[in-house]
Amino acid sequence: RQIPVITIDGPSASGKGTLASALATRLGYQFLDSGALYRVTALLALRRGVPADHEPALVGLARQLGEEIPLRFEGHQVWLDGQEVSEDLRQEEVGQNSSKISALPGVRQALVRQQLAFRKLPGLVADGRDMGTVIFPDAGLKVFLTASVAQRAERRYNQLISKGISVTLDEICADLEARDLRDKSRAVAPMVPAADARLLDNSALSIDQSVDTVLGWWTDGW
Ligand code: C5P
Repeated sequence: RQIPVITIDGPSASGKGTLASALATRLGYQFLDSGALYRVTALLALRRGVPADHEPALVGLARQLGEEIPLRFEGHQVWLDGQEVSEDLRQEEVGQNSSKISALPGVRQALVRQQLAFRKLPGLVADGRDMGTVIFPDAGLKVFLTASVAQRAERRYNQLISKGISVTLDEICADLEARDLRDKSRAVAPMVPAADARLLDNSALSIDQSVDTVLGWWTDGW
């Protein structure tokens, strides 16, 4: 029998990361934040002056991740080439760049191996956009998480303000909508619910309620 996987896909700021990591903790499973791999590639590209549309060079960088260029995940900390980059990955510029490079088929293909490597006993909770559709199509439970743009914008706003970053709600809404559009309309691995995904709208749910809902589905079907 395959190693169990729960996939959590959905748009930016829907609370995927929070839900997925809470589930992983409750189940004692591994946790994959697949967006971090796109962000790491984007960060490397920015540092090395590789333009966000230079597919061959970006593919080259993505392929080297975890091989020639050391990459290590420890909970929510990410170490790239011996340096902790967790904070750098959250920068706006890196987020924008990751959204652009993630539309390139070669980059997506080059990052498949690193994602599959997270599938280890006793199990995995993976969050992203295409976890249930492309990377782990045989997952035992697929969740597609949504929340209203207003809710997502408010959460992102509070996160940024608490970090001392000045933004307006309008800017955040515009950014979320632009990112959703790019994620949904790209030709390769667009963000769509898998045919067998369960939809969860967490606009009116607390984190605990979302976690309990998914755990309930998991226990029912497993
Ligand atoms: O989830 P996060 O915002 O960290 O992801 C960064 C970017 O990587 C997103 O804008 C999204 O376009 C892309 N991404 C993706 N496929 C995934 C995870 C993230 O295309 N599985």
